[in-house]
Amino acid sequence: MVRVLRERVEELAGSYEHKELAVLGIAREVAAKTLIDDTAVSSIAEACGVDAELVSDLFASYPDLGEERCGAGLCTDLTCYLRGASTLLDRLRDDPGCLGSEFEGISPVSCLGLCFQAPVLRDREGNFHRLDPGSVSQDMS
Ligand code: FES
Repeated sequence: MVRVLRERVEELAGSYEHKELAVLGIAREVAAKTLIDDTAVSSIAEACGVDAELVSDLFASYPDLGEERCGAGLCTDLTCYLRGASTLLDRLRDDPGCLGSEFEGISPVSCLGLCFQAPVLRDREGNFHRLDPGSVSQDMS
């Protein structure tokens, strides 16, 4: 399992010209598939050429990469807020099924690390969606 994890992390890092910029993307992919432990942290750090402490700090800064990563959530941090997340949250509270049953019970969450796609929603399966406050969802997977 450790070897498979290391190979996958190295494969992901290899697709980036600047490996240090791959840390968040790789962390997100690893967190979606396995528990984050010291092996995962050191594998990511080694593959990206960064300090393991930086990777640990990243997991601490993005709660959705750690234990809070399960469950549906709509990011309401600054970028998503400015791009209409609060309007979407009000809409989901008024009509919980307006985007489909898979999005019922959405909670506000902190930054999901996909600010460039704001506003962003994570469904129960861990898939991310870019939302348009004026219409319906757009799948990002
Ligand atoms: S602020 Fe919403 S994904 Fe970063």
